[in-house]
Amino acid sequence: MAALTFYICYIGARPINRSWMQPQEHILLKDFTTFRIGGPARYFVAVKNTEELREAIQFAHSKQLPIFVLGGGSNVLISDKGFPGLVIKIEIKGIEYKEREGEDVEVIVGAGENWDDAVGHIVSRGLSGLENLSLIPGSVGAAPVQNIGAYGAEVKDTISWVEVFNTETYTLEQCSKEQCQFDYRDSIFKKPEGKKYVITRVGFKLSKKPNVNITYKDISNYISEHKVEDLSIQKIRDIVIEIRTKKLPNLKEYGTAGSFFKNPVVLKEQYDELVKKYSGLPGFTGASHGDVKIPAAWILDTLCNFKGYRDGDAGVYKNQALVLVNFGSATAEDISSLSEKMIACVKEKTSITLEKEVQIIF
Ligand code: EPU
Repeated sequence: MAALTFYICYIGARPINRSWMQPQEHILLKDFTTFRIGGPARYFVAVKNTEELREAIQFAHSKQLPIFVLGGGSNVLISDKGFPGLVIKIEIKGIEYKEREGEDVEVIVGAGENWDDAVGHIVSRGLSGLENLSLIPGSVGAAPVQNIGAYGAEVKDTISWVEVFNTETYTLEQCSKEQCQFDYRDSIFKKPEGKKYVITRVGFKLSKKPNVNITYKDISNYISEHKVEDLSIQKIRDIVIEIRTKKLPNLKEYGTAGSFFKNPVVLKEQYDELVKKYSGLPGFTGASHGDVKIPAAWILDTLCNFKGYRDGDAGVYKNQALVLVNFGSATAEDISSLSEKMIACVKEKTSITLEKEVQIIF
């Protein structure tokens, strides 16, 4: 009976050339993740607009299926058993530019745009604010979820609002920057109260003024070593791309999700105690409440010797100890047990419990 009702609504409400595709079944998720890991999705559908998204949500609700929203698949580790519900891949595209007061331009980008393609497009228009976030894998819709950050910038600094589809009320809503509750690699979209939202578009406030940000050590070192004089935002983008290419694995060659762990933030007193024990331990103040952010990569590299470590096909990248790599046929379990080994070493040496940055779907 339920199926019949659904069918009648469908005929009545939709134009004949509607684009809604029935979900496919048993689709291997490893083909959609940069780790190249993940078993089958019971159902899988790609949506190109909010109407298709609405239908996908209706489909999942009618079958009482859990929903998992996939962007670029670059920050997830999905179980080898797969996902028992509906995986919705967001393919909502488009970039819109709107002149605002003075030097400001509002740029509205569809959640399904590739992040770096969008950054390249925006930088080529001479708008500044996103250039330090060049070459980060993933989609535009995933960027606010974990408040992506790199080379002295965080995406929250340029976001004005995030448009979401509320899966409880079936309405489109706009979350202000404050409502997004951005923090270091965190936002409302990672918390239980934000799970009802699916991000559809992101609004950025960018500037025609080339406000270059060269505070991060890797960038300032590059500029002095290469005696760079022309500091255009395109040049900053080129520099970031060069640095990232040297430090981080090439996704065409290796399966990876970038930093696997967050950098821990500790109390100043705890940091001072640790420095007495490990004199070279770096620490960055400026984290909230005067706490200190410690590069987990330093601990994993210097104290735990994990750089270049391998357990079969699960390993740690040779140039960055925070980055786990699938060298071929590693399973989610292999990556997970390697990560637990790394957590245990850091705990033993420093009493710090590392938190995973990558979203784990087990
Ligand atoms: N370091 C080591 N050994 C290593 C790597 C780094 O000792 O193998 C030390 C160095 O002292 C270095 C410091 O750690 O100065 C920081 O390293 P890096 O600049 O590479 O940054 P990170 O803190 O390890 C963070 C982000 C990266 C981002 C870089 C650059 C997190 C979890 N990760 O890494 O983001 O690209 O800064 O800004 O905050 C990602 O999220 O996937 C990601 C790659």
